[in-house]
Amino acid sequence: LRLIYKMKAFEWLKRAQAEKFAIGAFNGASMETFRAIVQAAAKLKSPVIIEASHSEVEFFGMTEMVAVVRALEKDFKVPVILNLDHAPDLESCLRAIEVGFDYIHFDGSKMPYEKNVRVAKMVVTAAHVRRIPVEGEMDHIGGSSADHRGEEALDVSHLAAFTDPENARLFVLETGIDTFAGFFGNVHGLYGGQKNIDLDLLKRIKESIPTKFLSLHGGSGIPGDQIKAAIKEGIVKINVNSELRVAYAEELKKTLNQPNQK
Ligand code: 13P
Repeated sequence: LRLIYKMKAFEWLKRAQAEKFAIGAFNGASMETFRAIVQAAAKLKSPVIIEASHSEVEFFGMTEMVAVVRALEKDFKVPVILNLDHAPDLESCLRAIEVGFDYIHFDGSKMPYEKNVRVAKMVVTAAHVRRIPVEGEMDHIGGSSADHRGEEALDVSHLAAFTDPENARLFVLETGIDTFAGFFGNVHGLYGGQKNIDLDLLKRIKESIPTKFLSLHGGSGIPGDQIKAAIKEGIVKINVNSELRVAYAEELKKTLNQPNQK
């Protein structure tokens, strides 16, 4: 058990790839959420990824997050990989590496391509010195991690183009990233209509970068059968945020509305 608990992000991703399973990656910015994630992982005897986006990190604090995650990992004796999610610049990636994050997702998808490649390469160089895997993104994964169910039906056609497998191959080659975050229908957020991912495109992305790890963003609201099929096609990391935010908000409202909570 001690050995498993000490396994780092690279080893877990390699194991997931070899044994065809995916590790859940859950966002949070509160003590309750972090504890709930680790508690659930311990119950399932599973490794887990805790991740925080730029705004979540700003809210909770980077060093605070490392301290809390390391304490929970020790208490619950379950492997926890701490991931900086969609980091928008080099500075935040370097800081996260410095303070003890285990995994970095640099998201330069809103930058011009050349700049995205240039910064991603710098992040890779800094992270690999500490054996920290780096995830990269080139086709902006649209939507936002929120409850959009009361809004108009989801129309993905106006969002950025889906990933082109050949472009993914070049991006991975030029940057040296370890995990590729592709866009194939997996928008962020919960929507009224069902989310559908393009499994055939995912298969072709995998074929173009067979040795690399693949992540699935926008995990909330993707039906279970599609999640399983995506794992079969090589997904090793599944990001979920909105579903946790909704559960947290609903439970909080329920509790505050109880008559004895005045
Ligand atoms: P959801 O909000 O759709 O679960 O997506 C989360 C995510 O991809 C975080 O990077």
